[in-house]
Amino acid sequence: VKHLLGIRDLTAEDIEIIFQTADQFKEVLNRPIKKVPTLRDTTVVNLFFENSTRTRISFELAEKRLSADVVNFSAGVSSVKKGETLIDTVHNILAMKVDMVVMRHSASGAPHFLARHIPASVINAGDGINEHPTQALLDAYSIRERLGQVKGVRVAIIGDIMHSRVALSNIYCLKKLGAEVMVAGPPTLIPKYIEEALDVRVCYHVKDALAWCDVANVLRIQLERQNRPLFSSLREYNLYYGIKRSWIDALQKPIVIMHPGPINRGVELDSEVADSPQSIILQQVENGVAIRMAVLYLLAGKKESFS
Ligand code: CP
Repeated sequence: VKHLLGIRDLTAEDIEIIFQTADQFKEVLNRPIKKVPTLRDTTVVNLFFENSTRTRISFELAEKRLSADVVNFSAGVSSVKKGETLIDTVHNILAMKVDMVVMRHSASGAPHFLARHIPASVINAGDGINEHPTQALLDAYSIRERLGQVKGVRVAIIGDIMHSRVALSNIYCLKKLGAEVMVAGPPTLIPKYIEEALDVRVCYHVKDALAWCDVANVLRIQLERQNRPLFSSLREYNLYYGIKRSWIDALQKPIVIMHPGPINRGVELDSEVADSPQSIILQQVENGVAIRMAVLYLLAGKKESFS
C-alpha cells in the first residue's frame, strides 16, 4: 500500500513525476468534459477532523473528476462526539470497503499512525503543525507554472512559521527542487532550530525579505494553535509584518504573491496586494485539483492511460 504522508519522504524525482502527471490532468480539466474513468473502481473517504474549505473541496472534486466513489466524513457530526476513537472510526469505515483515506487532523502524526494500522492508502491533508504535502506540491507547481522553473527561485515564506504545516512542507519541497528559501516574520513565530536543521535563511524584517525574494508566500497567524498570543495585537502585527501595497511598489521589481488561504485580510496581507495582478492565490487553488488528481492517480497505481 502506498501513502502520501509528507514531502520529507519524497525525492525530487517523485515530485517531478507528480508535476508531469498534474500537467496532463490540467489539460483534462480544460476540456468541456472534465471527467475521466480512471478511478471508477476506487472508493475514497475524506476524513476531516479539522475545518477546511479549499483542501476538502479540492480533494472531493479531484476524486469525482477521476470517477471515484466518494464519502465525506466530518468529525463534528460523527460518533467521534460520542467517544469513538480514531482507529475504531477508521476500521468501521474500512469495513464498508474503502480503498483510500484522505485525512486532516489536529494531531501531528495522526495520518502516520493510521497508515501503520490500516490496509488502505492514506493521504495527509494536513496534520497539526507537521505537514500539508499536497499544499506544498500545488504551491511549487504554481511557481513552476508562473516562473517556468523552481530551481534557483528565491522564495520567502512570511508569517507564522512556528505553527505552520504549510511552511514545513514548503521548505522540504522547495529545497528538494533547488529553490533558495528564506523564512521571515516575528522572532516569536520562527522556531530557533529552523535555520540550522532545515538550512534556510531567517529574516526578522519583512521589507528585507521582500527585497530579497522572487516569490513571497504569505501565511496566516494560526491563533487556534497558540495557547497564548505570541505578538501584542493583530493591528500591531499588520503594522510591522502585514504586506502592504506601498511596500510592494517600493521594490521596483516584480515579485509573485502567494497565500495558501484562508487569508486574514488586513492582518498578514492587505487586499490591494491579495487581489493584485502579482497575486497567484486563485491559480494555486485551481492547480490544487490537478495536483490532487495526480496524487490519487499515482497512489492508486494506475498504469493505463487516463485520457
Ligand atoms: N490551504 C488550506 O489548507 O485551506 P483549508 O484549510 O481551507 O483547507
